[in-house]
Amino acid sequence: KTRKPENPKTRKPENPKTRKPENPKTRKPENASMIPPLRWNDAARCVDMLDQTQLPTAETWLQIKTPAEMGAAIKRLSVRGAPAIGIAAAYGVILSLNERADNPVAHALESANYLATTRPTAVNLFWALDKMRAVATGFDGDAEALYVALLAAAKRIHEEDLAAGEQLGLYGLEVLQEGMRVMTHCHAGGVATSGYGTALAPLLMSTARGVHLEAIVNETRPLLQGSRITAWELQKMGVPTTLITDSMAGHAMQQGMVDAIIVGADRIAANGDAANKIGTYALSVLAKAHDIPFYVSAPCSTIDLQVASGKDIEIEQRSEQEVTHGFGRQTAPDNISVYNPAFDVTPAANIAAIITERGIVWQPTTEKVAGLF
Ligand code: MRU
Repeated sequence: KTRKPENPKTRKPENPKTRKPENPKTRKPENASMIPPLRWNDAARCVDMLDQTQLPTAETWLQIKTPAEMGAAIKRLSVRGAPAIGIAAAYGVILSLNERADNPVAHALESANYLATTRPTAVNLFWALDKMRAVATGFDGDAEALYVALLAAAKRIHEEDLAAGEQLGLYGLEVLQEGMRVMTHCHAGGVATSGYGTALAPLLMSTARGVHLEAIVNETRPLLQGSRITAWELQKMGVPTTLITDSMAGHAMQQGMVDAIIVGADRIAANGDAANKIGTYALSVLAKAHDIPFYVSAPCSTIDLQVASGKDIEIEQRSEQEVTHGFGRQTAPDNISVYNPAFDVTPAANIAAIITERGIVWQPTTEKVAGLF
């Protein structure tokens, strides 16, 4: 039997600052297992990376040894998902020190500038690179000392994301109850982060606590992150999952098959508008029409207070090939004109709540989002 969550429209807003997070030391043990997309390889001084382009048919690991290789991996989506891109780029800066020992500070800063050009929308990329730049700028020491300092900074970014994923998953328990059918779009699970995911973290934590949920996964054209990665991860998590094409989402809602929608985000503006994979905005409109709560789950590193509203978020435009050759073969006539924005913006008004590691922001506004910081 399914149960609807409390109506977010009538619910009393809570102050995320005063709500205490569950203490990870005292809370009941559980078996939420995470799926990490990359790790720093100390011996080889490189990044071991799961090649997400090969999922779900192959779990291939790459060795990324230079900033250029890292940039290429980010651009072709071998590593993808906002938090994972930020972590990967942070390690990418360290790889610059493998290339030459002279003027390591300049070389590290150059790499950071290059890596910032790889993808424009996910703010975690810029957030992580700023932290790495802060370590390198004015660093007074040799290449080895800089390596140690940059590695410590990258590992901190990595570990903090892991803790954030776990904590936002715990907060997310509040919106999921036994028997709920949860729709998600794109992929915002373990391999899009350091391991717990954002949209999928509450599902992971609920499932680990014996709450039975079902997932409805939109395949997510054009690159099928939903069917290739989300469905794969949910199977590993043991969540019964139904895959649909994007155009079936409205019908599924109309048929009463969806109790809640949870998505991730690539950048959340100061007013709560959220950029996420193309198709998310349409889902939010459908959710409103069907009175289904629509949640965005993201760490605070995805919130960009410099951007007042979603209209100022840069939307990545990707290659026409992704649309014309979607399934390993040409699926459109030659010379057809193509529009391929990778993301869209869901207005805060369509979002029941933003789930973060610092608490849940119900019916987000500029004031409430600012309250997280
Ligand atoms: O183009 P992608 O695959 O990087 O897009 C990813 C998304 O839109 C995710 O939903 C978002 O980054 C959240 S990741 C936890």
